[in-house]
Amino acid sequence: MTIPKPVYNPPFNVTRASHAVFNVKDLAASRAFYVDLIGFVVSDEDNDAIYLRGVTEACHHSIVLKHATGPSTYERVGMRVFTEEDLDKAKAWFDKAGLAAGFVERPYQGRTLHVSDAQGTPLEFCATMDVEPRLVVAFEHHRGAVPQRLDHFQLLVPDVPRQCEFYMTMGFRLSEYISPDGTDDLMFVFLQRKGNPHDIVFAPGIGPRLHHVAFSIPESYHFFYVCDLAADLGFADNIEYGPGRHGPGHALFVYLRDPDGHRIELFNTHYQVMDIENEPVRWDASYAAKRRWQLPPRRQWYTEASLFAGVEPREPARRGDPLSLEKFLAVEK
Ligand SMILES: [Fe+2]
Repeated sequence: MTIPKPVYNPPFNVTRASHAVFNVKDLAASRAFYVDLIGFVVSDEDNDAIYLRGVTEACHHSIVLKHATGPSTYERVGMRVFTEEDLDKAKAWFDKAGLAAGFVERPYQGRTLHVSDAQGTPLEFCATMDVEPRLVVAFEHHRGAVPQRLDHFQLLVPDVPRQCEFYMTMGFRLSEYISPDGTDDLMFVFLQRKGNPHDIVFAPGIGPRLHHVAFSIPESYHFFYVCDLAADLGFADNIEYGPGRHGPGHALFVYLRDPDGHRIELFNTHYQVMDIENEPVRWDASYAAKRRWQLPPRRQWYTEASLFAGVEPREPARRGDPLSLEKFLAVEK
């Protein structure tokens, strides 16, 4: 397989992964998870929605929890572009690609562009957002895991190589990728705009579905503190995988499921990758698995993910056979 060529002068300037909108059944239960346990700061709330940000974020929100009576879905992948002009360029680019894009009004955001990518993932782009105090040294607001900022999204999609090519045409750069041993097939791709290992990650699976949204936390201590606090507050069963260490990206991590089953990742220690000579790092699948010192994840970590509202997921061309905890324990017996 040929790795798509990077586009150094993209058609419009996406700067970073920005925000996530979750549909949730019970705002009070979600607030207990995201605010009391994880430690997000409330920028605003009413009977219909809660707007949250991390302590280093000056933007109004990186999470919106919307009360919904239907299934617990996810609305859109939120990205920032640099200027209003980039929004107009984005609309023209998507329209030309046959993907109808339209502007909508969203609370606390500037002009917001809605469009779906080539595999049907609903996207949302904005150039501006209302500004709130950045609480990075306001330690009285630091609670739980002390979430700093939204870092990346991971999605399951039926066709990873096609999705990789589409996002690289938009200017995303491939930082790392996992291939079946001895091949250069794009099985698992890590794409970035902001100069660290990833803003959006694509893995093979029934999709498009959202696997997780990741938030950086300051210290390794906070992984253990938030797990202790989870046990104390009745959220022990919400800890799904970790704490552990990733191979690609090198980050420490823990994954938790919120009361609706939406998965979040808390992580730290990403590195800088932005120079023109930085080539994508390739991982053999077996080497990526060997690099982990924690046990493998449960099967559900590979297969379960949040649906996008109104989007029918499709089967992948081929199903993977990753090493789950269940499989690992069966071999050990
Ligand atoms: Fe992640």
